[in-house]
Amino acid sequence: MKNKHMILGVGLGNNFGNHPATWRMPHVDPGSYTNIDVTVEQARTAERGGLQFVFVADRLFMFGDLATSPPLMNIDPIITLSALAQATERIGLIGTASTSFTEPYLLARQLKALDVISHGRAGWNAVPSYEPDAFANFGEVLPPRENKYERLHEVMQVVHALWGSWGYEAGQPDQAGMFADPSYIRPVNLQGRHVGARGPLPVPPSEQGQPVIIMPASSGYGLQAAGMYANVVIGMSFNIEESRAQRHTVRQAAAQAGRDPEEIKFIAFAGFTIGDTESQALNARRALDDRIDIRGPLSRLSAYLGLQQELTLPDEPLTTAQLASVRAHPQDDRSARAVELAKAGWSPRDILAHAVFDPIPSVVGTAEQAADHLQEWFEAEAADGFMITFDDFHTGIADFVNRVVPVLRERGLFHDGYEGKTLRDHLGLPPQYGLDPRIATGSTGANR
Ligand SMILES: Cc1cc2nc3c(=O)[nH]c(=O)nc-3n(C[C@H](O)[C@H](O)[C@H](O)COP(=O)(O)O)c2cc1C
Repeated sequence: MKNKHMILGVGLGNNFGNHPATWRMPHVDPGSYTNIDVTVEQARTAERGGLQFVFVADRLFMFGDLATSPPLMNIDPIITLSALAQATERIGLIGTASTSFTEPYLLARQLKALDVISHGRAGWNAVPSYEPDAFANFGEVLPPRENKYERLHEVMQVVHALWGSWGYEAGQPDQAGMFADPSYIRPVNLQGRHVGARGPLPVPPSEQGQPVIIMPASSGYGLQAAGMYANVVIGMSFNIEESRAQRHTVRQAAAQAGRDPEEIKFIAFAGFTIGDTESQALNARRALDDRIDIRGPLSRLSAYLGLQQELTLPDEPLTTAQLASVRAHPQDDRSARAVELAKAGWSPRDILAHAVFDPIPSVVGTAEQAADHLQEWFEAEAADGFMITFDDFHTGIADFVNRVVPVLRERGLFHDGYEGKTLRDHLGLPPQYGLDPRIATGSTGANR
């Protein structure tokens, strides 16, 4: 069954944006990557547009080439979101925390604290780390995938049990009677091969009970885990068919785990540079591209166009001889798009400005074109919603809220305002407290 309205969330990062040159732009304070006031402003803008959540990814090691660009992410997500909780009122706050290192008691405690202080707006992007650099920061080497996911299952089950360990039945403080009924605040006594906890966790339910679980769509192990625990799954597809197939696989994984697939929301990525006209948007993107060394992207472009020789004239359309020899790589949408643009007479620099090589499907164009993209994916049931990101957060979030959101509303594709107060309300999720009882723990979980 198709949802009536799409879900929209913003993927925040280092305060600059996804383009490596945003920090060099004249309107940007290059020191703002550690300025929480800037992040607060971005979250408030997203909230003004009625967006359902902000999302903070994470890497547990130095990521990126600092000589030319800022770290992609650097400030701890849960601490960042705690600050946003105080500065916003409605928007959901989703943070990434790895299941590979932290003990579940600490994870459960911090995430439920975020949920309580934000009045039920927290979400946890639960990911196993996968890069050797992350493990090196904990004095470890990358384990085999089975072990990584075995730990993930144990962590998820212990965290959920701890969240549910302060039962609703413990009641509210009664000044004439008990503060809380201890018979409903019970230990969990879980011990697995990797982690364990006695409990209980001394944190009462939040307005939404416990944080919403977000997981990525990854390998078979990851999909199985997402089917068991995730309320929201984030996909990484470049086209509608792939995304539809991934959404279907995720829903099947939920059904296999004994859950109702309708309860799982599948989110796809989309990136935007918005202008009054398409050429204005392309100019904005070109202004960013002009601040990076274009030789690498040009060389990549010539390979994607199937050319034997490097492109040496970035501002000239391809010659007739070059156009005669361009070839799209089969099964690569980006290559096909680059060929299409070359054949339409765009110069190499312009082809790059169309964001053909961005790691997510991206639109450089008008608000209507941005809305068309989202509408097409949504109506094809390729996604229940989108994680949107921008070249430049300083202008991108406000452009989206001021220009694209009204178009989506006019078309009946986006809600007029928040339906409720919690993230669970915003996403249309059923209540859950503790581990979903429909899930059989089997051999993957921690045992009592
Ligand atoms: C959409 C998406 C978002 C992800 N976000 C993060 C992240 O913020 N931090 C992280 O360490 N890994 C992240 N990952 C990586 C996954 O956690 C996973 O470890 C990786 O895809 C490898 O999974 P596999 O071992 O099952 O193949 C993300 C993956 C996807 C597809």
